[in-house]
Amino acid sequence: MRLDKLLADMNLGTRKDLKQEIRRGDVLVNGTPVKDPGFSVDGSEEILWKGKRVRYAAYEYYLLNKPAGVISASEDPKQETVLDLLGPDRRRDLFPVGRLDKDTVGLLLITNDGDLAHQLLSPKKHVDKTYYARITGRVTQEDVDAFREGFDVDESLHTLPARLEILSDSEVKVTIREGKFHQIKRMFQARGMEVLYLKRLSMGPLSLDPDLPEGSFRTLTEEELTSLRSCTAQS
Ligand code: URA
Repeated sequence: MRLDKLLADMNLGTRKDLKQEIRRGDVLVNGTPVKDPGFSVDGSEEILWKGKRVRYAAYEYYLLNKPAGVISASEDPKQETVLDLLGPDRRRDLFPVGRLDKDTVGLLLITNDGDLAHQLLSPKKHVDKTYYARITGRVTQEDVDAFREGFDVDESLHTLPARLEILSDSEVKVTIREGKFHQIKRMFQARGMEVLYLKRLSMGPLSLDPDLPEGSFRTLTEEELTSLRSCTAQS
């Protein structure tokens, strides 16, 4: 990777400013000033930027408990995004893996690992996503059967088999293997109900951490990362 890109990814400045700093000799690679912004590095080098050690990790993984009112985008000129919740010092190449609606809360994985994200979102991999929902109306065994078999939501969506578990008259757990736009809300609408509250509890082997308040995040543990990688490798 280019030296200026590595520094920009670590959020040390704009690419333009970093190029100038490199040309000025402000960046040392393994003890030597490198004046070429395109100098090739792989992150294993000792890099000093303005005298400060740059700690480079190729990939970062965060588990966020998304609050309502925040959009699942990388940037937006007007609205707060899930990445804003990670703070101003976050690296620049992070993105959310899939989208939750603005009013949906719960588990969201944020990373810069495009390969893993692609695998987790691939319809072929069938990674289960489980949600808790509060709905208007009353869920019946017929709804459970329809969800299990798959049904026509509208002309554009025939659902794959899903698991619907009734917790009470108006509370359910739903597990789906796809992630179409507003999927859960559309599934209930098609059955004459409306989703009032939606929270994602898990994605594949990754579960929402009960110790993580809404709006907070933490890095994934090695165990979580290993289980995520192996679930996409198997299915
Ligand atoms: N289904 C929805 O309708 N909304 C979400 O945010 C996620 C799944």
